[in-house]
Amino acid sequence: MANRLLEVAEFVIFTALLTFPGQVCGRMGQAQAQTWAMTVDSGRERTTTLHFYFHDTPGGKSPTAIRVAQPAPTSRSRTGFGVLMMADDPLTVGPDPRSKLVGRAQGMYGSACQDEVGLLMAMSYSFLDGPYNGSSISIMGRNSAMQPVREMPVVGGTGLFRMARGYALAHTHYIEYSTGNAVVRYNVIENRGNKKDGQTARLE
Ligand SMILES: *[C@@H]1O[C@H](CO)[C@@H](O)[C@H](O)[C@H]1NC(C)=O
Repeated sequence: MANRLLEVAEFVIFTALLTFPGQVCGRMGQAQAQTWAMTVDSGRERTTTLHFYFHDTPGGKSPTAIRVAQPAPTSRSRTGFGVLMMADDPLTVGPDPRSKLVGRAQGMYGSACQDEVGLLMAMSYSFLDGPYNGSSISIMGRNSAMQPVREMPVVGGTGLFRMARGYALAHTHYIEYSTGNAVVRYNVIENRGNKKDGQTARLE
């Protein structure tokens, strides 16, 4: 139910952006469009929406996520409770891993739940494309990986995303249960105050 509500909310937000881009840009001034990212500057704050695909590949010959710790009881847990992974996962514009690379998600995730597959994600998503090159967002939160849509908080950022606050909606696009290889579509909305006259606008 909660997931359904999130999907509906997201749909409404993106439909609004798609249907009224002229009005949004006209009213809000400067807007910057990329295929995978869009920033709207209201003068008081800047809001960026990001859409990308996250490729997490723990299996195969060149894994992008590796197990760095696993205590003995993990093997008796049906949720892998206790296992810790380190990842360096590509972020691309499309679900195809060969589509344009726009960033990398680097950091850790581990099984932090005994009842279901519930990961704690502590990862930096740094971007490589266009004006976002060199900027990053940090995501830290619970990822109920078996749910079709998960919400995770954006707790900060660097570069263009300095002082960012926001949220990410992660949708499983594809998963191979035997290896854990997964492609996850991310929609991220984050905003931060604009620095004006040496003062930072308050985010409310
Ligand atoms: C991103 O920035 C780095 C360092 O400034 C630069 O070497 C690289 O070519 C840039 N990448 C793109 C895609 O603009």
